[in-house]
Amino acid sequence: LRLLALLLHQLTSGHATAMTVWGFNVDLRGEIARRFRSKPATACIVTEAEPPFAICAVNSAWTHLCGYDACEVLGKSPKILQGQKTNYDKAAEFTRSLSTQLAEGPSSSATVVLVNYTKSGAPFAHRLRTEAVTDKLSGKKYFITESEEELNLAIRDAVMSDVDQNENLWESTLLFFFCALLLLTTFYVFSDDASTVDDMDRRSWHEQLRTHASLLLPRARLA
Ligand SMILES: Cc1cc2nc3c(=O)[nH]c(=O)nc-3n(C[C@H](O)[C@H](O)[C@H](O)COP(=O)(O)O)c2cc1C
Repeated sequence: LRLLALLLHQLTSGHATAMTVWGFNVDLRGEIARRFRSKPATACIVTEAEPPFAICAVNSAWTHLCGYDACEVLGKSPKILQGQKTNYDKAAEFTRSLSTQLAEGPSSSATVVLVNYTKSGAPFAHRLRTEAVTDKLSGKKYFITESEEELNLAIRDAVMSDVDQNENLWESTLLFFFCALLLLTTFYVFSDDASTVDDMDRRSWHEQLRTHASLLLPRARLA
């Protein structure tokens, strides 16, 4: 009856199409429906609270922002949004912080801005705010993440260049090791050549000495 009432409520309130839910029970579903309804313009996903943080629900603002249909992402990790310019360390740190807080206390929340990609591959600065919720019936925990595109130019540029700097750092490190290797190889080859030249010089000097000596010695004996 409760499920039927909820379904009817969603249908009549016109938000049934704004939310797609995957695999959790009615109690939490009601709570999430309320949240989705109170901020229809805010992108929102619900994920499990353990790795790989499978997506259980998305609202239409999220599908609009990220370009995926709900059926394409349910059961998948939010990592599908990541790409070349995503700062993986920052994303991992965000997840670690949420998990640690959840393990230590009843609630957890965290905020981060990451470079993410829409389904068509367009990068955008994605501001995430995540908090934990508990399904009262099962006691199971979930994360609700509200998100939006970061429109503050300064922050957006910083996030994008943060990754560029990381790339530059990698390039510089690689270049440094390549130069060091080149320098060492050159030094080794030349030092080897130098010893060969030295040996040759020494040999020819000995030969010269012997020749001169053989010329000089008979005269010396004569004298
Ligand atoms: C609730 C939650 C929501 C997340 N949402 C996003 C997201 O929208 N975009 C993103 O790039 N990473 C997001 N992440 C982070 C990734 O799912 C993943 O945990 C992180 O990249 C670390 O992955 P790893 O443990 O495989 O290194 C989210 C993580 C959690 C826990």
